[in-house]
Amino acid sequence: MVNPLRGMKDTVGEFSEKYTYFIENCSRIAKNYGFSFIETPILEETALFKRSVGESSDIVGKEMYQFIDKGKNDVCMRPEGTAGVVRAFITQKYDRAGGVKRFFYHGPMFRYERPQKGRLRQFHQFGAETFGVESVKEDAMIILMLKEMFDSCGIGYKLQLNSLGCPECMPPYRENLVKFLDATEGLCEDCLRRKITNPIRVLDCKNTNCHKLLENAPILLENLCSTCKDDFSELKSILDEFGVEYEIDTKLVRGLDYYNKTAFEFVSDEIGAQSAIAGGGRYDKLVEFLDGRPTAGVGFAMGIERLMDLVVMPQSKKEGYYIGAMSESALKTVMRLVIKIRKSNVVHTQYTNKSIKAHMKVSDKVNAKYFICIGDNEIETKTYVIKDLDTKEEKSVELRD
Ligand code: HAM
Repeated sequence: MVNPLRGMKDTVGEFSEKYTYFIENCSRIAKNYGFSFIETPILEETALFKRSVGESSDIVGKEMYQFIDKGKNDVCMRPEGTAGVVRAFITQKYDRAGGVKRFFYHGPMFRYERPQKGRLRQFHQFGAETFGVESVKEDAMIILMLKEMFDSCGIGYKLQLNSLGCPECMPPYRENLVKFLDATEGLCEDCLRRKITNPIRVLDCKNTNCHKLLENAPILLENLCSTCKDDFSELKSILDEFGVEYEIDTKLVRGLDYYNKTAFEFVSDEIGAQSAIAGGGRYDKLVEFLDGRPTAGVGFAMGIERLMDLVVMPQSKKEGYYIGAMSESALKTVMRLVIKIRKSNVVHTQYTNKSIKAHMKVSDKVNAKYFICIGDNEIETKTYVIKDLDTKEEKSVELRD
């Protein structure tokens, strides 16, 4: 038997029902917020992720599904969605046109991580990205949209917020932090490496000893320039106004290198160690960094697998028709009826003739609302009975053509 690869699974059964319900809900909400659907290729040039997600990130450093294809191109299966959407934004020359663009997307992402509950090697994200809006009101609107998506599926969460500053306030802060790290003994191997490649990543080290050592590290939020400070205050006040609760986490730096200013994560304490259900923030330099015209960007992505245990499905109600044939000669009539009713309704059927009792059993299983059974008698009298399985009412209907 051939099994799926480690850390990869099929979208099927109850998971698939929740998955499609979730995607439909989020897509509707994203469209209401002015986002349009985009799909970018799963395979991209490796350089795209190296230049955007960053060489110092775990994703690029250890987790990429990277290979040389038959044309000797260095390619990579996307580990996340933002880089591809930014690449598409530039490819389509939207950066030159100016103005505002908003996209949403969903699909598989690939990271060669150690699989565990909530951590897969192929997982799915639903994400959204806005281009061309510098105002922090867009960051707030994106967080409000995410809240609405979670609320619509009954998902509980906690929101954690931070600001990562801008090219004016980040470099002096980074220098300060490195001075502090140089004077700190006992940091783990990862932190010592990050101190050189991307010092602020040291702040979110999961090692408990490093946590302690970093207790007195300089705090970026206290060293923001006046623009970043004002933006962060405005973001908080909009969230306050709309009743969105949040915690400030001064050590939230995100695992991807492209962020500046707003950084946020939604977490759940109901799903175990892999508690981050969504993450995002601003990336005002990324378009330029990938050779586009300078364009502000902000967005988020949710990890769909981590959310599925939290989705509360609506009470399933009876829907559509079940139409069954009770004789071989009735099958043709049934198929004709099925095709006709399927133009406007869900119709379940079977391609073998069975007793009315056997059909009734299946109609129950598929949760049909209306039940029709056609046999030789119905064809002869040119009438059939349609039964409402909710109210148990029956109606006689003329069988035409
Ligand atoms: P990220 O934080 O790397 O951000 O991923 C977003 C979400 O994807 C996480 O919060 C988590 O729910 C889910 N996720 C990540 N890795 C795995 C995994 N191995 N298995 C299952 N779920 C996982 C990004 O990807 C950014 N592109 C988000 C963004 C969009 N920022 C701005 N725009």
